Amino acid sequence: MKITVQLTQSPKSKPQDSSKLGFGNYYTDHMFIMNYDEGQGWHSPRIVPYGPLSLDPAAMCLHYGQEVFEGLKAYRAPDGGIVLFRPDKNMARLNLSNERLCIPQIDEELAVEAVKKLVSVDKDWIPEGEGTSLYIRPFIIAVAPHVGVHPAEHLLFIIILSPVGAYYPEGLNPVKIYVERRYVRAVKGGMGYVKTGGNYAASLKAQDDASRQGYTQVLWLDGVERKYIEEVGTMNVFFKIAGEIITPALQGSILGGITRMSCIELLRSWGYTVNERPLALAEVEEAARNGRLEEAFGTGTAAVVSPIGELKIDEEHIVINNNQIGEVAQRLYDTLTGIQNCRIPDPFGWVVRI
Ligand code: COI
Repeated sequence: MKITVQLTQSPKSKPQDSSKLGFGNYYTDHMFIMNYDEGQGWHSPRIVPYGPLSLDPAAMCLHYGQEVFEGLKAYRAPDGGIVLFRPDKNMARLNLSNERLCIPQIDEELAVEAVKKLVSVDKDWIPEGEGTSLYIRPFIIAVAPHVGVHPAEHLLFIIILSPVGAYYPEGLNPVKIYVERRYVRAVKGGMGYVKTGGNYAASLKAQDDASRQGYTQVLWLDGVERKYIEEVGTMNVFFKIAGEIITPALQGSILGGITRMSCIELLRSWGYTVNERPLALAEVEEAARNGRLEEAFGTGTAAVVSPIGELKIDEEHIVINNNQIGEVAQRLYDTLTGIQNCRIPDPFGWVVRI
């Protein structure tokens, strides 16, 4: 399928100071759209000027949340070139989410092609400056107008772009995380392992309560026993306890992060023992008590690698590594961003030039 391009006649002014971008505050001049209609399949891939969508008020995504999304980034290399980081993994995960939400599978190669073409059209929006990138948000929404509950027969696949800085205002400084006891994010058999808006809607209440108390994010426990660590919601989590690096195993309610996967591969290539296994909160508390908790950090496309300096567990405050970024988190951050920005060699073949 050929992707057509209609350029805007009224380009917007771009943010001048890349150190003040924040996350998700600006959108570029163009977007990609493709339709799905039952009987026709996915069709009419096109790049058009960025602008509001016209939706029927009965569009099913507005009522029942039949929606999936992805997040990846484009980076500027020192030679001026543009690269993506493992975009094939995002599109494979998008299809995993599609399968769970009864959304027809997309052509992954076409989707990567669409990202490349859209980023090329809006390449002047890729910010320059430490810690900045062009965040790419592919998403699919059900637009069929029905208030009955069933999979939609009309959908839209859209990609938008946003020049961003760090996701957390803390940047690479350690974040404070609130361990959530009352609410749960997901259970096995639910949707926690895929990227769909409902998982994030489920997290808002706890997130809001935590931020009112001065915490950046919440740490979710498993939805059944409320005993095992799952994820942070915008990041997967890793703990280093007496030399062992542990991240919760993907057992059906945790998102399989692409940054998580890349960090595991990097750590193993450096000789670290990384175990994907159930990790009880009690094990982390105990390790903190006897001085064996060495580091904790989160990983995610938006968050990159984010050290955790404090965990609030009920009335207890656990300070990790003196609230300083740890050696492992720093090395992961430097290596990952080095590869993504083409400042260091990429022995894994992760970056894809546009
Ligand atoms: C990402 O890391 O790309 C995410 O999707 C997290 C988020 C901003 C919701």
